[in-house]
Amino acid sequence: MKHLLSTEGIDPAQATAILDTAASLKQALEGREVRKLPTLRGRTVITMFYEASTRTRVSFEIAGKWMSADVVNVSSSGSSVGKGESLRDTALTLAAAGADCVIVRHPASGAAHRLAGWLRAAGTSVVNAGDGMHEHPTQALLDAATLRERLGDLRDRRIAIVGDVLHSRVARSNVHLLTALGADVTLVAPPTLLPTGVESWPVTISHELDAELPSLDAVMLLRVQAERMHGGFFPSAREYSISYGLSERRLKLLPEHAVVLHPGPMLRGMEIASAVADSPRAAITDQVRNGVHVRMAVLYHLLAHEEENA
Ligand code: CP
Repeated sequence: MKHLLSTEGIDPAQATAILDTAASLKQALEGREVRKLPTLRGRTVITMFYEASTRTRVSFEIAGKWMSADVVNVSSSGSSVGKGESLRDTALTLAAAGADCVIVRHPASGAAHRLAGWLRAAGTSVVNAGDGMHEHPTQALLDAATLRERLGDLRDRRIAIVGDVLHSRVARSNVHLLTALGADVTLVAPPTLLPTGVESWPVTISHELDAELPSLDAVMLLRVQAERMHGGFFPSAREYSISYGLSERRLKLLPEHAVVLHPGPMLRGMEIASAVADSPRAAITDQVRNGVHVRMAVLYHLLAHEEENA
């Protein structure tokens, strides 16, 4: 694997290999006083975040450091991007400075693919840390890692992805990955928050959350993305939560074993009631914890597993 740009068309064996590596890393490191492996000593990982992030940026930085890579963080404010330097020139500059891997978050869909093209000659790996409304592949991998921990094999598991599918790169990456792993995915959303062409996706569509909950193995709530609704309709927290929020009443409709996921950041009281987010049924902090191990596994498969990249 040279880059991780999307989960569309991902080889299930490749995805499973990353998830297995993440699980092994977690097992090896948990409970250890010093969480440091020498695997990526001498390698340089640069994060380029052109959009806000807490979980993704921090967990990539921790992942790189736990594997002994040199990690450098670049953001649009405080770098020469603020002086008007283009994404291409910034990327070529970072590659020339010695980056073995560039991790990019950008508001434009397709930015990570463009970057991979520009960096081909330099041989630098690119990881998509979220590009516009397109994809967020490491989020989908950490969601799958969390679901596997709680449910085991994902084949034929019923998973609902609920809410603002239209603007969600998390939803797109999860649809590709979860269906590749054999899960049965249902999108639950109002028609206004579903993308054009969704009928051709390998999913079932529903507008009624209450009707879906009793037969689910997992429910993934999406953040309502006000920042991408340029002049569009933004539902009130009350309206939205009445139809699509996971309330304490709705939690009781789920089977006992069913898992509640949210990629974060959460809008408590809108997508998810506070009591549900803080309940043992929610795997939200597990998702964050697994994010570190999954991102370690991705860096390992990109930078330390040379024969795969030949
Ligand atoms: N889930 C996610 O991508 O969170 P951040 O925006 O905080 O990175």
